[in-house]
Amino acid sequence: MRRLDQMLSSLGYCSRREARAWIAGGRVTVRGEPADDVGQKALPADVLVDGEPLDHPDGLLLMMHKPLGLVCTHDAREGPTVYSLLPARWQRRNPPVTTIGRLDKDTSGLLLLTDQSELVHRLTSPKHKVPKIYRATVDADLSAELVPRFASGTLQLAGEDRPCAPAALQLMSPREAELTVTEGRYHQVRRMFGAAGATVLTLHRTNFGLLALGDLPPGKWIELPPDTFA
Ligand code: URA
Repeated sequence: MRRLDQMLSSLGYCSRREARAWIAGGRVTVRGEPADDVGQKALPADVLVDGEPLDHPDGLLLMMHKPLGLVCTHDAREGPTVYSLLPARWQRRNPPVTTIGRLDKDTSGLLLLTDQSELVHRLTSPKHKVPKIYRATVDADLSAELVPRFASGTLQLAGEDRPCAPAALQLMSPREAELTVTEGRYHQVRRMFGAAGATVLTLHRTNFGLLALGDLPPGKWIELPPDTFA
């Protein structure tokens, strides 16, 4: 059971102060009866606003095709954010909707978003070794010798105290490759190719764990079942 004002503000409907006016205006019902106090406690499933059930009261889990040019921070000073693609109400939720790991502004592809911090921690922790698959094009020919080097678990990135965990590299053509990593270090894929003398020109994530982006168009997202990673 939660207070109505807390419930409405945490789900992004309105501020706690505005909840008072919403309730006074008869917009909120609990089990079919108009709510009479912001402090009234209720189960989210029993609450209607303007006659509609609450919007995802038990949490959100989304898979987005992140387009190029958007950032994964919440700070709009860094450029347009991936959150701007979501409904306004979801952008006001608290706990906030955040990305599970990040993709660079100039990386496209599969991006997960949720308001469940436990899921963020679990899926981004290197301990859990969730495989992420990236498709990269680079500015120099890649040699076959890179495959065992990336797989060896000895590739050292500048400024890091531990080498990268083993990563599976598949060469698709001399300047295009698919790389599977289980960590999520800062600019990891670009830096791994950089350590091999190649600059990444395009980078796109196709898979995250068992999930594949498929033909979801850039800028679009779908909801995933809440038990996807249960
Ligand atoms: N590695 C990178 O270098 N950039 C990304 O966006 C993701 C992984």
